[in-house]
Parts: sequence; C-alpha cells; structure tokens
Amino acid sequence: MAHYLVTGGAGFIGSHLVEELLRRGEKVRILDNFSTGKRENVDAFAGRIELIEGDIRSHHIVREAVDGVDFVLHQGALPSVPRSINDPITTNEVNVPAHSMCSTRPKTRASSGSSMLLLLPFTAQTRNYPFARV
Ligand SMILES: NC(=O)c1ccc[n+]([C@@H]2O[C@H](COP(=O)([O-])OP(=O)(O)OC[C@H]3O[C@@H](n4cnc5c(N)ncnc54)[C@H](O)[C@@H]3O)[C@@H](O)[C@H]2O)c1
Repeated sequence: MAHYLVTGGAGFIGSHLVEELLRRGEKVRILDNFSTGKRENVDAFAGRIELIEGDIRSHHIVREAVDGVDFVLHQGALPSVPRSINDPITTNEVNVPAHSMCSTRPKTRASSGSSMLLLLPFTAQTRNYPFARV
C-alpha cells in the first residue's frame, strides 16, 4: 500500500482520483480548502481518508501535507479561465507558487489545466505508475 496526497481532493478530478485510489486499497490524504470543491465529495470517503483542510498557498500546511507520503497527485487549483481574467492575482497565487511547493516530492504529478502550463520533474517511478504516464 502506498501513501498518496491528493491536493484538491474535494474537487471534480481530485475526488475521482481518491475514489480510485481507495478502490485499489491505497492510503489517501486530502489537502483542500473547499473554495470550489464540495464537502459531499469528501463526505463520501468519511473514515477512509485523512483530511487536511487548508490552503495550498501556505508553506506550513503543504509541508505538513507532504510529510510521509509516497506520491502527490496535485489537483488543487483555480481552473476557471473567466476567473483568471477577473482575478488574475489570486489565480496566479494559487496555481503557480502552490504547484512549486506541492512538487517538492519527486513523485508528483499535476493536472495542467487551461489556466497554466508547467513542466514537472518526473522520475522512473512516476513514469511507470499508471496515474503518471506522460
Ligand atoms: N475538469 C476538467 O475537465 C479538467 C480538464 C483538464 C484539466 N483540469 C485541471 O485539473 C485540475 C483540477 O480541476 P477540477 O475540474 O477538479 O477543478 P475543481 O475546482 O473541481 O477542483 C479544484 C480543487 O482545488 C481546491 N482548491 C482551490 N484552491 C485551493 C487552495 N488555495 N488550497 C487548497 N485547495 C484549493 C478546490 O476547493 C477544489 O476542491 C485543474 O488544474 C484543472 O485545470 C481539469
């Protein structure tokens, strides 16, 4: 059993990843601030996950969240293009520096969405893992 951190685990993509990880018998921790994610998505996993409610912009919280995990699936983001036009500063703060922090783990994979594009380090392990094929 591997230990996963899913940032944005209350969101659309993240919650489906959590569901699949639990189906496979993996250990899952979620980091989410519920800004766009839904509590009912997480409630469905009650008792089977560890939930850290917090902001991925916080170094302190991200350090706590990545502690002891084997993989990070980074889905915490503000993905809306209209939002990025209306509030580019917040979108940038959440999507860019937070990606850097969450990528402190070598085995990290992130969604690259409509609001940003980034290159992530990946290793032989990530390349061979089904979630992490590039
Ligand atoms: N949904 C799609 O079809 C799709 C397609 C391609 C790529 N993506 C990318 O996948 C990623 C996730 O998309 P989604 O559709 O699941 O979005 P979503 O809004 O449903 O999920 C994002 C999650 O991140 C959380 N979050 C946002 N800001 C946070 C913060 N500061 N701290 C902690 N948590 C925070 C939200 O609460 C939410 O649970 C995004 O990068 C998006 O661009 C999505």
